Amino acid sequence: MSRKVLVVGSGGREHAIVKQLAASPQQPQLFCAPGNPGTAELAANVPLSVSDFEGIASFCREQSVDLVIIGPEDPLIDGLADVLHRIDIPVFGPGATGARLEGDKEFAKQVLSTADVPSAHYHAFSTSSAALKHLDTLDMPVVVKACGAAQGKGVAVCATREEAEAHVHECLDDQRFGGAGLRILIEECLFGPELSVLVVTDGQDYCLLAPSRDHKRIGENDCGPNTGGMGAFAPVELPADLYGEIDARIVLPVLAELRRRDIPYRGVLYIGLILTESGPSVLEFNCRFGDPETQVVLPLFTGDFLEFCYQTALGNLGAYLQGLHEPGRKAPANWTGSDLTAWDRHSVVVVAAADGYPGNYLSGKAIELPSGPDDDGWIIQAGTRNEQDRLVTSGGRVLGAVGVGNDLEEARSTAYGLLGETHFEGLTYRRDIGASGEDRDAR
Ligand code: AMP
Ligand code: GLY
Repeated sequence: MSRKVLVVGSGGREHAIVKQLAASPQQPQLFCAPGNPGTAELAANVPLSVSDFEGIASFCREQSVDLVIIGPEDPLIDGLADVLHRIDIPVFGPGATGARLEGDKEFAKQVLSTADVPSAHYHAFSTSSAALKHLDTLDMPVVVKACGAAQGKGVAVCATREEAEAHVHECLDDQRFGGAGLRILIEECLFGPELSVLVVTDGQDYCLLAPSRDHKRIGENDCGPNTGGMGAFAPVELPADLYGEIDARIVLPVLAELRRRDIPYRGVLYIGLILTESGPSVLEFNCRFGDPETQVVLPLFTGDFLEFCYQTALGNLGAYLQGLHEPGRKAPANWTGSDLTAWDRHSVVVVAAADGYPGNYLSGKAIELPSGPDDDGWIIQAGTRNEQDRLVTSGGRVLGAVGVGNDLEEARSTAYGLLGETHFEGLTYRRDIGASGEDRDAR
């Protein structure tokens, strides 16, 4: 009997995960809760909210689900994996203690500091008076962060004292982010290109997927407000020595520190890095696959993604990795798990957003998709829904056009070609995703 897999979530990341699972030679039976019209083409959507832990647990029990992959951070931070472990369901995604790395930025900083991993200097505050007094001692710019998970809106990079003060007040006095902003970090501002590193681990062994880069700002050349991500590409080509340095200076000590603290971790640890002049430094952890990074990292994954996730969830990743083939010719040295990435392929995702995003935007606009996906290009749905048999927009980031090719230019041209055939009223996108594709000269 084929394995049954439930993917929890409803965005572009989950559509990409379902697509990769559907390509498994095991031909699994796939479910997605609650899913979107894109996932419905490959999986049975189950009308359960990601916060309905009891409903999800009952579904898994009734259907004898073999594996649950949890996409978004909120259910991970709130302990969905722990609930499922209690009924012996293998889960890809950490329990609440591991997910705290994303849910509590002060805790993440403590882990980094004990592990002696490079990260921006910081101080933590619970009152605005103490925070403002501390600002008196700092030169601008600084970064002010809500400690809790605030849907990506809790971080402000502040060029002026006024901006920093405003964000302090918004978090601590106006409580704009609720409980997530009742404690804040004030951090040194670092400079350099950013890099997303997805570490798949079962707590003992790990492997690194292709390094990728998100484009967070709404406007071209990184102008305007931050968004959930307007596009991404992979792999990011790095100076040769940087691959090993990221592994040795950052990944290994962080995983060792989790073990030292007896924090189990089975799933993805997303490490957000900034490549400064003095070396890579950790900006943030996420306890899950990145969105939109997943849309470009998974197409380069060469193994059986279902087996990979299943063995990780069971704690057997080491034995599984040992059985894999040798790395491809272009694989960088010292990148653990090189053999799971097609380094001679490149991928790009360009997000099509609704006009007005990340501010107010209209929903319910009819979507016209390109005539057909092929092996090198496809549409990943994110903010879409079906309304009277029509596909319409239902979110700020509506969909992503993915292109894969033998070089970055080919991948970009496929992705942009697909977007040219995609229509809805108010469709906007950045034209410069992946335009500066390499960091070999970053240092
Ligand atoms: P975070 O959620 O902590 O990664 O922050 C979101 C974004 O804010 C990052 O991707 C960076 O672009 C920026 N950022 C966060 N911390 C810093 C920092 N210490 N220095 C410079 N930029 C930062
Ligand atoms: N792309 C950033 C994130 O997933 O949080």
